[in-house]
Amino acid sequence: MNPLPTPAPMAKAQPAESPLAPGQRLPESRLRQLSPQATAEIQTLAAKYPDKLAATLPALYIAQKDFGFVSLSAMLEVAKVLGVPEGHVFGVATFYTLFQKRPVGKYHLQVCTNLSCALNGAAKLLEKIAEKVGAQPGAGPSEDGLWSVEEVECLASCGSGPCLQVNDDVYDEYVDEAKLEELLAACRRGDYRPWGE
Ligand code: FES
Repeated sequence: MNPLPTPAPMAKAQPAESPLAPGQRLPESRLRQLSPQATAEIQTLAAKYPDKLAATLPALYIAQKDFGFVSLSAMLEVAKVLGVPEGHVFGVATFYTLFQKRPVGKYHLQVCTNLSCALNGAAKLLEKIAEKVGAQPGAGPSEDGLWSVEEVECLASCGSGPCLQVNDDVYDEYVDEAKLEELLAACRRGDYRPWGE
């Protein structure tokens, strides 16, 4: 009778660098804790809600501003300050595409490519922007950290497309080549003013 085969030694489990979503690896931020100011801001905000879960969206916006993007640490910090389940914060942050889950440039340029904007040249605008700033859509910040570019869904300014959003600021007017040049030059000089100001 053949002896039973000796079982192969079990591979030692490696500690994970950070918690993972199923099938998803999100980048982690250099920062691991909210600043005291952001923490205070979230606490003040949370005090206005009888149910702290309801404060998750605005709290994530505060964390996004503080961290530069919504990293896993940012989500954990929001959960800790609000006293709500981490899974809830993770679910909210990953459901909404408007939260940046990856690092972005100082100027995050978003071009809507939905139907109205597509019919009015959105693809061309997106291509032009990517070429001018040296950052491909969705590929993270440019080498100098100044720019990132993203193709996004409707920005609710369908009548004036192709619609461009710079950080939180939506351009409610047609952005032609001259306007784009002017806008990028202002960003490079550091005197960018949000649309309409
Ligand atoms: S379709 Fe582009 S803003 Fe609505």
